[in-house]
Amino acid sequence: MAGYIPGAEPKGELRESGPSEVVDITNPQHIADAVRKYKVDTIYNLAALLSAVAEAKPQLAWKIGLGGLFNTLEVARECHCAVFTPSSIGSFGGPFPKDNTPQDTIQRPKTMYGVTKVSGELLGDYYFQRFGVDTRSVRFPGLISYVTPPGGGTTDYAVDIYYSAVKGEKFVCPIGKGTLMDMMYMPDALRGMIEIMEADPTKFIHRNSFNIASMSFAPETIYQKIKEYVPQFEMEYRIDPLRQAIADSWPNSLDDSCARNEWGWRPEYGLDEMTRDMLAKLRVKFNM
Ligand code: SER
Repeated sequence: MAGYIPGAEPKGELRESGPSEVVDITNPQHIADAVRKYKVDTIYNLAALLSAVAEAKPQLAWKIGLGGLFNTLEVARECHCAVFTPSSIGSFGGPFPKDNTPQDTIQRPKTMYGVTKVSGELLGDYYFQRFGVDTRSVRFPGLISYVTPPGGGTTDYAVDIYYSAVKGEKFVCPIGKGTLMDMMYMPDALRGMIEIMEADPTKFIHRNSFNIASMSFAPETIYQKIKEYVPQFEMEYRIDPLRQAIADSWPNSLDDSCARNEWGWRPEYGLDEMTRDMLAKLRVKFNM
């Protein structure tokens, strides 16, 4: 099956929490069959290769990221579904303001991940304007979760660092000191996805895609925060040039005032709340 990634099927909590079906996003018929079978009215299309792995497999990243989105939008047009597709801090690039990056600014990314995200934003707006498909989107920061292990993103160090802390291992950080990136705890991200899809669209000035933010930090800041709860925790830097170059091309922090004003976005977790929750949940997960 083209685009099929073995082992990517939903497992555990994800599988047991509701009906599930394996769908190949590169095959529009698969998407349409699942939409009709379950009478889906809103599609949350989260299929993508993340930034670092997309540089290793740019053709596949396009096929899943943009080809998959195109297939999803076509099914949505025919079946009258709304569509949520995340964009990313990776959609920025070029000479844009790095601090408090505005909603509307220059987006000339040089990564395949970024190219698929900017193209996806445009395609979402096109399907709304041309066909009336109710497309909505947010630009996610790096997402931090204790449920799904990280896979191929530039922000993944901020997930890995918690795993090392809980397992009592020294953390080797691939991102350099002082490198600021926006991050968000998964419960805020999930709530944001649902809230934007349930929001009153008459207040929207934007659609695809809204900056949303909750915290921005550099590796030394998250390390110090974890050390408050795990005093013996150690970290050393071993910079990965690919991930560092990607991180350097992204915003230091996002201005999310349009999301706040147009649909009431408000984050609940800061670095401290997230750190306490991540450490507690991972200790349970690993029985430590
Ligand atoms: N978490 C993503 C990445 O690092 C950014 O959206 O690729």
